[in-house]
Amino acid sequence: MAYAAGVDVGSTQTKAVVIDEDGAIIGRALVDTGANVIQAAQDAFDKALRERGLSEQEVEYVIGTGYGRYRVTFGNDQVTEISCHARGAVHLFPKTRTVVDMGGQDTKAILVSETGEIVDFCMNDKCAAGTGRFLGAASAALDIPLSDLGDVALKSSHPVKISTTCTVFAESEVLSWLGKGKKIEDILWGVHKSIAVRSSGLMRRVGVEDEVTFTGGVSRNTAMVEALEQRVGVKLNVSDDCQYIGALGAALFAMDRIRAGRTSKEAS
Ligand SMILES: Nc1ncnc2c1ncn2[C@@H]1O[C@H](COP(=O)(O)OP(=O)(O)OP(=O)(O)O)[C@@H](O)[C@H]1O
Ligand SMILES: [Mg+2]
Repeated sequence: MAYAAGVDVGSTQTKAVVIDEDGAIIGRALVDTGANVIQAAQDAFDKALRERGLSEQEVEYVIGTGYGRYRVTFGNDQVTEISCHARGAVHLFPKTRTVVDMGGQDTKAILVSETGEIVDFCMNDKCAAGTGRFLGAASAALDIPLSDLGDVALKSSHPVKISTTCTVFAESEVLSWLGKGKKIEDILWGVHKSIAVRSSGLMRRVGVEDEVTFTGGVSRNTAMVEALEQRVGVKLNVSDDCQYIGALGAALFAMDRIRAGRTSKEAS
């Protein structure tokens, strides 16, 4: 049995996935990227190997992706995260046509053809509105862990309208609503709705085609799934492995290379 791995070094979190020849995930790990990017990549890979008791030598090919993909020092090659998210999304949800990846810093929308080829993509430019960074600002201002934001927001009955589109001002706007006596859940649901407006704009730019798959760590936030579904009017594909989809795509490309290597050996 051959094994391949993908390591997605994101700006916020680093994900590693080990797959078998059937493309099934047999090991996965998530660590904070932090300041030592090389170490984060190694730690995530080691953790994913340990889950299955594998040694580094047993993994034939490793592909790095994400903003820190050139920091995967033990990797054999690198592939862009656009390609990896598309590949991973289509693997988990074969009818995927539109992919929306919301990570810690960036939001990306990708349109894929029926055969899984990338047709178009776009991402937020320098502006972080409509990305996970906006949620980070709200989480800091309200002192609520990121993992609890969604559940709190879904309790809202009278959402406030967040007017700032700038992450830099998000924290002060959140605090000013608190000062006006608004409930935390109503402020938070307003924050989620405002992110959904911005990110759905990116999705429309490439095209919202059925089916839509939501990837990246922010897809773990139940309120963000709900807000985006309401905004674009379609049900989104989400799985427990959505934060690992970029790493999964990288691992699938790595498995292709293993197969291509075998074919060329057989031919020679
Ligand atoms: N348990 C959780 N519940 C809700 N949100 C979460 C959870 N875990 C992570 N997140 C969100 O996911 C984000 C990280 O997502 P991801 O790992 O996709 O980012 P990244 O790949 O590092 O960033 P980028 O792609 O922008 O470089 C966090 O900033 C946070 O907003
Ligand atoms: Mg990412």
